[in-house]
Amino acid sequence: MCPSILSADFARLGEEIARVERAGADFLHIDIMDGQFVRNITFGPILVEAMRRLSSLPFDVHLMIVEPLRFLEPFASAGADHLIVHEETVPLREAARAIRARGLKAGGVVKPGTPIERLIEALPDLDIALVMTVEPGKGGQPFLEDSPARIARVREAIDRGGYDCLLQVDGGIAEETIAEAVRAGADTFVAGHSIFRAPDPEQALGRLRAAAERG
Ligand code: DX5
Ligand code: ZN
Repeated sequence: MCPSILSADFARLGEEIARVERAGADFLHIDIMDGQFVRNITFGPILVEAMRRLSSLPFDVHLMIVEPLRFLEPFASAGADHLIVHEETVPLREAARAIRARGLKAGGVVKPGTPIERLIEALPDLDIALVMTVEPGKGGQPFLEDSPARIARVREAIDRGGYDCLLQVDGGIAEETIAEAVRAGADTFVAGHSIFRAPDPEQALGRLRAAAERG
């Protein structure tokens, strides 16, 4: 499970991170938005570096920014463990090789309207293939209905090629939708609202994990 810090209470950031870390989060998902590739602006390397001092979780950094190659170094130095770039902003295989050259795990992601083949073509260079299950830009949106079919296409390609690559999903993941994503073949789950906006985020994370295991 990868809680998305975007939905946390930023006035209590340290506490929010500690809670999901205690609850057994696998990675902390950090959404970087630049007001250009998506309409919102979130945070940059300075805040990632501050979070790095609060947590030992692997940082899964989702770059929703134009010209991501310019920012690989600043986010790597800030403490990112995974850098995930959008196919709509950069040739994925080239970016993935640049990320791996820094010793980080390389992720590629496509928006819901982008042909899924673009992600599949990059699999030989990816450690993480991320299928967006909502339009990127904000938390709390509903899981898009055609997502399972797209996830299944990537699952089939990973298995056929024998790639060592996680299949991650991001957007609208809750107890009801996580099972659909699991059945389609996803193995790594980003969740913002359904964890941080729940009355008890630790319990919510546990329930999501249980729902994923039931499939
Ligand atoms: C959306 C972000 C997501 C977001 C998911 O652009 O990439 O990571 O935080 O939020 P939920 O889980 O609330 O849909
Ligand atoms: Zn994200």
